[in-house]
Amino acid sequence: MSEMVEITVNGAQMQASKGSLLIDKLLDENIHIPHFCYHQALGKDGNCRMCMVEIEGQKRPQIACDTPIKSGMNIRTKGENIEKVRRDILELQLINHPIDCPTCDQAGECKLQDYYMESGFYESRVNIDNKTNHEKRIDIGSNVMLD
Ligand code: FES
Repeated sequence: MSEMVEITVNGAQMQASKGSLLIDKLLDENIHIPHFCYHQALGKDGNCRMCMVEIEGQKRPQIACDTPIKSGMNIRTKGENIEKVRRDILELQLINHPIDCPTCDQAGECKLQDYYMESGFYESRVNIDNKTNHEKRIDIGSNVMLD
């Protein structure tokens, strides 16, 4: 059995397994932590950067999916600074994503949509006319549609 250590998350003290991933602890405790590329069954990837948290003593926010738990860590998942960081990362994700929610099969079950809704419906700095592909279907025969 691994050693249990004391950590603080958003001001609440809790016990956690030393060396285990911070994101697992946050998910186990039902603490909201946005993430795209991490899954408990598949492990870490570290690409999306959405799981950023503030850790006392660290200069910059860290990704929770690649942060092993250490004794005495003081973590913040909420607050103006970390929410701004996540919002900026989300904006980067959205730059290269089509905005075809009305015709997308994943609409309504999409974390990107959920996180965008959470982040406050900010106005886009991107020209969205170039990002809608809703007219991509091409009729290539009497019974065939290319999509
Ligand atoms: S969940 Fe993607 S970097 Fe952590």
